[in-house]
Amino acid sequence: MCDSLDDDTWDAPFMEAFEEDTETFPFGTLSKTASHVTTLPSTTDAAVSLSNTTHSTIFVDLGCGVGRVTNRARDTTGCTAVGVDMCPNEIAQAQELANGNGAIYLVDDVFNAEAVIAALPDFTAADWDRVVIFIFLIPTLVNSTKFQALLGALLDKGAKLVSYCYHPDKWTPHERDERMNVNLYRRSL
Ligand SMILES: C[S@@+](CC[C@H](N)C(=O)[O-])C[C@H]1O[C@@H](n2cnc3c(N)ncnc32)[C@H](O)[C@@H]1O
Repeated sequence: MCDSLDDDTWDAPFMEAFEEDTETFPFGTLSKTASHVTTLPSTTDAAVSLSNTTHSTIFVDLGCGVGRVTNRARDTTGCTAVGVDMCPNEIAQAQELANGNGAIYLVDDVFNAEAVIAALPDFTAADWDRVVIFIFLIPTLVNSTKFQALLGALLDKGAKLVSYCYHPDKWTPHERDERMNVNLYRRSL
């Protein structure tokens, strides 16, 4: 799914899901095309709106692909926008499409999200309340125990989560945009 992935140096979790998961969804077959399936601007706007993303938000797209969501969030709100993807090619393209808008792109594994966010310039523990996590990832990943534990830990720190299309099983959204299929999650106060 990612041409430049070096099998010798990168051992991302759930790679087998991409190899074996050949189910065809309304927007494409995820096994080979997942990197190239992107979220529409209108859906991104719904996610931005539902999560109240503003210029003071740290918006993190876990599995950002070519940065359609990250760049739009940055361009429309002025937020600190961070895109993380394990595919160097996708990140390179995202940076190109950013056209110098200031979005931050990192080649990394989504499972390193907590460390990646904590390592952002000037980030302190108080900033977790400003973090919005966006995900549009395959169900195998979204519903894995390990990934849900990661998301739960981020919510416990104060981050909000917006998911598009595939949502964490058995989690009750705080709010939902039914038309756009976007859910918002946060820890109850
Ligand atoms: C369906 S695309 C979504 C792209 C973008 N977020 C959007 O909505 O337009 C999913 C992306 O997640 C990335 N991805 C999947 N598993 C990952 C992992 N473990 N670490 C980093 N990126 C991952 C894939 O490379 C792919 O680019």
